[in-house]
Amino acid sequence: MTTLTLRRPDDWHLHLRDGAMLAAVLPETTRHFARAIIMPNLVPPVVRGTDAAAYRARILAALPKGSPFTPLMTLYLTEDTDPDDVAAAHASGLITAVKLYPAGATTNSASGVTDFDKVRGVLDRMAEIGLPLCIHGEVTSPEVDIFDREQVFLDTVLDPLRRATPGLTVTLEHITTSHGIDYVSDATGKIAGTITTHHLMINRNHILAGGIRPHYYCLPVAKRNTHQQALRRAATSGNPRFFLGTDSAPHTDPNKLSACGCAGCFTATNTLSCLAHVFEEEEALDRLEGFTSLHGPAHYGLPPNDATLTLTKQASPVPYPTQIATDEGPVTLFDPGHPLFWQVT
Ligand code: DOR
Ligand code: ZN
Repeated sequence: MTTLTLRRPDDWHLHLRDGAMLAAVLPETTRHFARAIIMPNLVPPVVRGTDAAAYRARILAALPKGSPFTPLMTLYLTEDTDPDDVAAAHASGLITAVKLYPAGATTNSASGVTDFDKVRGVLDRMAEIGLPLCIHGEVTSPEVDIFDREQVFLDTVLDPLRRATPGLTVTLEHITTSHGIDYVSDATGKIAGTITTHHLMINRNHILAGGIRPHYYCLPVAKRNTHQQALRRAATSGNPRFFLGTDSAPHTDPNKLSACGCAGCFTATNTLSCLAHVFEEEEALDRLEGFTSLHGPAHYGLPPNDATLTLTKQASPVPYPTQIATDEGPVTLFDPGHPLFWQVT
């Protein structure tokens, strides 16, 4: 197989930032994707409906001329979030989901949730109105090893939370372990999981063996190879509970290449080449469309895109820039460490 035509993909987890960074990275996503769930972890975060409306307007203003891209907005859940504000933002069609960050779990998560009982009212209301919750699934307790934080979250936070609000639609985002895959596969109720491009292509050896590679550092941090293999099996299985959320997360090189570097892999530009590579390796190219373009809309109750996108396998490697220039500084593009041959044509 050397050409592959898919329904146009969506990205169910994307960081666009704001200002100069937004202007530079937005075209990297809109070139290939029709829609994306936009993460609300700005500084300050997108907490109220009015914040989301203003951020949406800034994204639309930054779109390349004539782009049909639709940003699917989210609100950042805090312990002070007002259920009525959330419900109004949902009723007006402004937001597609609410995002739960455990406080301290990742970039700009300080306003996240520490006491899950304090958000019970919002979660109950969301279940009532059918508004999905996107979850960064890691505990933050310092005594839990960083490689175990996802697994511990499943038993100590996610499962009790879902039992307390059984009608809630949940997206467990950027799954990095076989435990997360098993939880989503086996759970009853409305739950799905997103998987990033980079977690399909790297494991912790890529970050740490033979020298430290800050551009592979992201959160949740990549786990051992056996977990990477579980992610690859789930993504290519055809199970509609798993779909793409790139978590493409731009940081400038000075912020990545620092004594305390930021977490995030920037994959928007070459994600589809990377995914076609992975799916071909797994002999599952026929399942790529489900992962990129069908399972996500089904979970969020949206129609798949009518437009299509074609990938063609080239004889020589597809050239990609090393960096994207932004007015805040260069952002290094994810490099899987080997050539890519599938090109969006
Ligand atoms: O690697 C990550 N980067 N993981 C996250 O959860 C947040 C993101 C960011 O905003 O930079
Ligand atoms: Zn993210």
